[in-house]
Amino acid sequence: MQNKDQTPSERLEAMRAEALLCGGEQRIEAQHAKGKLTARERISLLLDPGTFEELGMLVTHRSTNFGLDKQKFLGDGVVTGYGQVNGRLIYVFSQDFTILGGSLAEAHAEKICKILDLALENGAPVVGLNDSGGARIQEGVVSLGGYADIFHRNVQASGVVPQLSLILGPCAGGAVYSPALTDFTFMVEGSSYMFVTGPNVVKTVTHEEVTSEELGGAKTHATKSGVTHFTAPHEAAAIDQAKQILAFLPQNCEENALNLTYSSAETEKRVKLDSIIPENTQKPYDMREVILELTDETTFLEVQKDYAENIVIGFARLGGRSIGIVANQPAFLAGVLDIHASKKAARFVRTCDAFNIPLLVLEDVPGFLPGTDQEWNGIITNGAKLLYAFSEATVPRITVITRKAYGGAYDVMNSRNIGADMVYSWPTAEIAVMGAKGAAEIIFRKEISGASDSTAKLAEKEAEYAELFANPYNAAGRGYVDEVITPSDTREKLIKAFEMLKNKVRNYPRKKHGNVPL
Ligand code: HXC
Repeated sequence: MQNKDQTPSERLEAMRAEALLCGGEQRIEAQHAKGKLTARERISLLLDPGTFEELGMLVTHRSTNFGLDKQKFLGDGVVTGYGQVNGRLIYVFSQDFTILGGSLAEAHAEKICKILDLALENGAPVVGLNDSGGARIQEGVVSLGGYADIFHRNVQASGVVPQLSLILGPCAGGAVYSPALTDFTFMVEGSSYMFVTGPNVVKTVTHEEVTSEELGGAKTHATKSGVTHFTAPHEAAAIDQAKQILAFLPQNCEENALNLTYSSAETEKRVKLDSIIPENTQKPYDMREVILELTDETTFLEVQKDYAENIVIGFARLGGRSIGIVANQPAFLAGVLDIHASKKAARFVRTCDAFNIPLLVLEDVPGFLPGTDQEWNGIITNGAKLLYAFSEATVPRITVITRKAYGGAYDVMNSRNIGADMVYSWPTAEIAVMGAKGAAEIIFRKEISGASDSTAKLAEKEAEYAELFANPYNAAGRGYVDEVITPSDTREKLIKAFEMLKNKVRNYPRKKHGNVPL
């Protein structure tokens, strides 16, 4: 409301002050009491100091339903604008829970859409800070239309600019689908939750008793559903994770990620790698140790680390170059490929490919997980996702086989025949249709059962098969492996090979789009 005694500048200042007060001091206190920050406090943590330019601060809703005409808030519950993270442009929207619970309606959605349009047209990432009670109940269907406008833009922007979603409070109902359409989701333990239907609806429909935290809290989505890529103990840590991810990514799909200067000599050996594979081939080891040895110190950032732990994915730097890593994890379920691992890795491969991040695959895989659970839930379609993702990726991709590379899983894990640019193998590699024991039992069944000492016969035939295939030399002889290398030389080989492949151009047949086995 204008005060007649105000000068034009005083009026503007008063409006600015009103906008900065969000939903009022009481609601800000309530937000803080829940351990949550306000929309603008979050933006200050995200952006480089002094770089935020706010847009649409004076936007208000137009609805008069249910007394909304008497309850106007400047900004309509979302702070939007642009700024810089580590000197690079990003667009941001930050929902303000202190205004009508951060609920989304027509004007609020229009502000977010403007940010998404700017990001797409100017080729820079978007970070969404979500904290909302969902569709603004008083505004009805225009709220739903607003969500759909955002979803549609999320899809248009997908693969063009990186989109990050931080969930810093409630995110329920259809609202969950915007984060789900973006590249990375971050949740805060204890204060954020996501679900399509809340505990009350669940109780009515399925008679299950479940808390919000159990149903859709950070831990649930990090371990059970895989919906979130990162969890953090508090908001500042989640925002920091988002900044780390942005540093690995280019601004858009036309650019490459930044190469950092790396001071150590390229030729440095990592001797620990020479003794990392146990002598007993059935014994597990932690593939993360291999990753840490191969990559630049302290650069490995694991993604979805508590979900489908039989496969490890993440970003790191190798000689300063940003790379994506997909690695079987022998320390969990022997590194077997199952439905969750295939989906997790496939999505990551496509994210890296979309944003020109070269891929390093570390392979030690005994095969696909057998069983009715896997078959009935579609390991065929889901395993095909990973096969598809590697096959269509045009970024430089290098595989290092550290130990087992068996059966169909060998093909799937970025093998030469599905387009790997380079395949290295350690001398400990076993590249075969299956393990020697299983193979001997099948192909020498009659001989073994007819022998006077069947155990000795099995051992003899197992050794025969192992001699032929439980090594990398058959595959190297065929050219499926480019070079068998000493483990401690791997880092140097990879740095040189990725440098050699940096201008790679690979074109596939023109099409509208492929038909990924979704
Ligand atoms: C309008 C809302 C609102 C909403 C909260 N508020 N949600 N106003 N529309 N959806 C308002 C409250 O009236 C209150 O206003 C203020 O925000 C804070 O809410 P509280 O309930 O006091 O906060 P809290 O106790 O922390 O509970 C938060 C909450 C709860 C769990 C989110 O507010 C809630 O259940 N809200 C409704 C959620 C919902 O059903 N949304 C629709 C979902 S369906 P005052 O003035 O008192 O500060 C949906 C479909 C999307 O979103 C479909 C897209 C395709």
